[in-house]
Amino acid sequence: MRLEHAVEALGKTALHEALGLDAPAVVRRSQDEKHGDYQLNGVLPLAKKLGKNPRELAALVAEKLQNPSIFSKVEVAGPGFINLKLTDSWLAEQLALLANDANDGIEQVAPDTIVVDFSGPNIAKQMHVGHLRSTILGDALVKILRAQGHKVLGDNHLGDWGTQFGLLIVGMRTFGDAEAMKKDPIVELERVYKLASEAKKDEVFANEARAELAKLQAGDPDNKKLWEQFVAVTRESLDVVYADLGVTFDYWLGESAYNDALPGVVATVKAAGIAREDNGALCVFFKELEDAPKDLAANEQPFIVQKSDGAFNYATTDIATVFHRSTVFQADRSIYVVDNRQSLHFKQLFEVAKRLGDRQKLTHVGFGSVLGPDGKPLKTRDASGKVITLKNLLDEATETAKKRLVEEELDLPADELDAVAKAVGIGAVKYADLRQNRLSDYTFDWDKMIAFRGNAGPYLQYAFARTQSIFRKAEVAPAEALKAPFVLAEPSERALALALLAYPDAVAGAAEHLEPHRICDHLYGLARAVASFYEECPVLKSEGATRASRLALVATAGKQLEAGLKLLGITPIARM
Ligand code: ARG
Repeated sequence: MRLEHAVEALGKTALHEALGLDAPAVVRRSQDEKHGDYQLNGVLPLAKKLGKNPRELAALVAEKLQNPSIFSKVEVAGPGFINLKLTDSWLAEQLALLANDANDGIEQVAPDTIVVDFSGPNIAKQMHVGHLRSTILGDALVKILRAQGHKVLGDNHLGDWGTQFGLLIVGMRTFGDAEAMKKDPIVELERVYKLASEAKKDEVFANEARAELAKLQAGDPDNKKLWEQFVAVTRESLDVVYADLGVTFDYWLGESAYNDALPGVVATVKAAGIAREDNGALCVFFKELEDAPKDLAANEQPFIVQKSDGAFNYATTDIATVFHRSTVFQADRSIYVVDNRQSLHFKQLFEVAKRLGDRQKLTHVGFGSVLGPDGKPLKTRDASGKVITLKNLLDEATETAKKRLVEEELDLPADELDAVAKAVGIGAVKYADLRQNRLSDYTFDWDKMIAFRGNAGPYLQYAFARTQSIFRKAEVAPAEALKAPFVLAEPSERALALALLAYPDAVAGAAEHLEPHRICDHLYGLARAVASFYEECPVLKSEGATRASRLALVATAGKQLEAGLKLLGITPIARM
């Protein structure tokens, strides 16, 4: 059950009964626990609108909220707020429901089929830090939406088609080194691609590349073989990174998967009458369309559906992809986890899809850049020009975590050190990314990231491990301990109960806004509430019903920390 949501609903009903109108109650958690648990703020704006005295209106509403089994205090305060305090018994009752809920309290919804398009790296290039956010955010969103009961399909829209292959084929012929290709193929591919990108300034080279691309797209067997080799080599290096991250996909429908559909897409766009020729290319000019969204109409940039040389492109492929998801996957929604720099592309794509009759809800989940210590987008090459790959970065995270674990002298069996270091290092990288509001840039900082204190992944993993260590000492299983009745006597016990009961709202908010950081904020608040509770309330040294209740609180907290970390794609660690 969503506690804040439930209090909001009670407030709304009271507003209706007292004033005869429907308006939001605007319920928020109280800043100061002395005033209560929640504050109802909705009366003030209503009084203003009605030209009435807010305190008088608030008194009428407060009267309707009187319900001694739910609220121990309903009090008009300040200019017309209502302070609400929940009864300990109602809180305990709600907590028992949450503790024993099969879905950890997460509200189950009417399921949609949702495609999450994430990661999407490009062939012949190693994945670098730029792809990190899409992969981490997308994976978390898949898990969060699934936890609500949606049918979610994770799809890796690989950049495995298009101009770069013409360049690579001619590049290999011109600059390729067979030995290097055997030894470290992905590095060699990248080297050749870089040289070819420069060489295309030369008309002859560029024409040759175009010709090879056309041959590939027409199904030439030799070029197809080369392309397959490029894809396979890249896949191998990608798989290493995905394995480290523990990220999987339901589909790997890269750009190449839509090749055969592209002429049909162009025909459909033409038939819909939304595009026209411009210097030989087929383009959608939004300012020429009726009722175009203002921001699109104001932008000169057309959506190019077919290039002047007849080639199809990223946009053509993306239209085909939308159609595929609608017709084959029967998707109700598609979510594109791609950085902010592509926001115009997606705005244009979604508008075009709508005009072509697609009915999916299409959402671009954008995000900012990862910055280096100099405040500029994190370099993908080090000082010597060597590429800093995601693989190197994750290895460094694991190494750093290992050092920190040894320094902290945690309770960790020696033979588990490597596995725990990996879970901590990778978890820290993921958490540092997820805890940010995704639209902001953030600075990559090893010290803050791999920390056992403060808002960091390792701190949360440690908070979970600590709950489990209590059960090892208590010699009861957490699942058993959960069954005891909750007694919420001390302030820190109540505060912990309130923190725990905020989880369903946090998950619902994260899903609604597609913002995993809401779950991070929640878990961090929970971990702190647990820490304060340990300080005030002895668990193992208490007795009787108090001890049973405190163990139940620790068990519920452990269960929620574990579930929450898993939603973020972070491995919970039982002992560290
Ligand atoms: N390969 C693209 C890139 O690296 C990302 C693909 C995103 N997905 C999509 N359907 N366009 O920029």
